[in-house]
Amino acid sequence: MALIELEDIHISYPGQPAILAGAALQLLPGQRLSLTGPNGSGKSTLLRVILGLQAPQRGTIRAFGQPRTQETDFHEVRRRIGLVFQDADDQLFCPTVAEDIAFGPLNLGKSKSEALEIVDRLLSDLRLAHLRDRITHKLSGGEKRLVTLATVLAMEPEVLLLDEPTNALDVKNEARLIEILQGLPQAILLVSHSAAFRAQITSAEVEIREGLVRPVGP
Ligand SMILES: Nc1ncnc2c1ncn2[C@@H]1O[C@H](COP(=O)(O)OP(=O)(O)O)[C@@H](O)[C@H]1O
Ligand SMILES: [Mg+2]
Repeated sequence: MALIELEDIHISYPGQPAILAGAALQLLPGQRLSLTGPNGSGKSTLLRVILGLQAPQRGTIRAFGQPRTQETDFHEVRRRIGLVFQDADDQLFCPTVAEDIAFGPLNLGKSKSEALEIVDRLLSDLRLAHLRDRITHKLSGGEKRLVTLATVLAMEPEVLLLDEPTNALDVKNEARLIEILQGLPQAILLVSHSAAFRAQITSAEVEIREGLVRPVGP
């Protein structure tokens, strides 16, 4: 059973050629897949469609074997599929790193002490314990990126969607991110302009071309 299955996805904006015109995509358990395509081709849009953050004009979305149509269907999808946003500042909104990481678990109904346990375990696993009490908006771009990944992992998702995760990353933090992602058990759908990064994280690639998701090739 596919974790994610999109079929015949159509998205267009008034007065513009269609962005997606019949796009289909499958992500299988354990799979690590890159989604490529030129700027503006609809990669971020497709990630939003998977999570029900943007409704296609046509097409079907299945996740974990179930068709997902209504907003309420997507609540479970967003719990089980974590998205690391393109812009870390869109994902961090608490004063400190620990509060940002605790936010998701608290929202899922965990107690304060359970949430703090998750924060400390995750920061230790990711070797980011030194950031625990830092003020989020004062972190470097690279530190923010690693913390956004921690906020997503705190929800224990089964699938990770990563949208340009190497943006604003220096060489050292990019190496850390690669190491962390290689050690994770989740299936991954990755959007990245860096071929070298894609090669380290994923084993297959598809690209958006003329509104369709196609195998990479000429
Ligand atoms: N609200 C909107 N109104 C009009 N066009 C939009 C809107 N949102 C996104 N687009 C357009 O949709 C296209 C796909 O965007 P996006 O999915 O962000 O591309 P990518 O992530 O591949 O760079 C872009 O050309 C963008 O300008
Ligand atoms: Mg994008």
